Amino acid sequence: MTTSSASGKIILFGEHAVVYGRPAIAVPVSQLRATATVTDAPAGGGCTLFAQDIGEETRLGNAPADHPLALVLRLVLAEAGIETEPDWRILLTSDIPIASGLGSGAAISAALVRAALTHAGQSAPPERVSRLVYRSEELFHGTPSGIDNTVIAYERPVWFVKGRLPESFAIGAPFFLAIADSGIPSPTKETVGDVRRAWEADPATFESHFSRIADSVHGARRAIRAGNLAAIGQLMNANQQRLQDIGVSSPALEKLIEGALGAGAAGAKLSGGGRGGNVIALVDGDSAGPVQAALLAAGARRVILTEVVGGVGG
Ligand code: MEV
Repeated sequence: MTTSSASGKIILFGEHAVVYGRPAIAVPVSQLRATATVTDAPAGGGCTLFAQDIGEETRLGNAPADHPLALVLRLVLAEAGIETEPDWRILLTSDIPIASGLGSGAAISAALVRAALTHAGQSAPPERVSRLVYRSEELFHGTPSGIDNTVIAYERPVWFVKGRLPESFAIGAPFFLAIADSGIPSPTKETVGDVRRAWEADPATFESHFSRIADSVHGARRAIRAGNLAAIGQLMNANQQRLQDIGVSSPALEKLIEGALGAGAAGAKLSGGGRGGNVIALVDGDSAGPVQAALLAAGARRVILTEVVGGVGG
């Protein structure tokens, strides 16, 4: 039996602009995880995928070409040089909310890639996991930047630029984020597609928005290195303003952000694709409780508190 897991993720700065070559900063949310367990089935039984949370059982041999989990598994088997369907039973579970910007799809894929490679006797280093998850995301999401698979596969804070290896960066002082789930599902593919259409219609304006987002991301790296929480908060607010400009915020998200700022958060912004999904708010020991309460009062379905730590190098 082989069990592997993968964490959720949250984007701190730079979503959407990262699709257009600007940098972004993302961190793992290690307390939220997806898990895959592979066990050997009786000979000739074939390969079955069981997604426990949605109660769906799929025979690999019968799954349509666009079945997300089957697609990931087929990529792994091809990569591992396994030509005949293995006799495996694969159980998948996750406590990462779906379609909410926390990387649930990429985390389930990463857990599956890790467990399947390991069970096949192969190594599953982060770059290999990241590459395979990216290929599956590409088939579903069109033009992903690669940030989700990267931060999930490496499970450490990353400075990410599309097409480059991720960089780690130092975190001067650990800080806390309240992650509020708006409860509004928002598939990333849709907001990414809307931004693309708007960029095609008015490239000059959108390039300028993306460059201003990049300014916030560069400033955030300096502020995070220096442990300057006030500056991190201001830069979150500036980044949120630009996300509004590119049309991916929403009244529901802005209500959550106003609630968090009113209760003492040092900064707040949407995280991920936008429209729905999550809002993140920068909190400390004093403001965490009031901000959490304010987010719930403003309509959050649930609020998770996470500490951003780690990161090495310069
Ligand atoms: C989604 O988590 C982040 C986006 O920037 C899309 C992407 O980077 O592929 C919105």
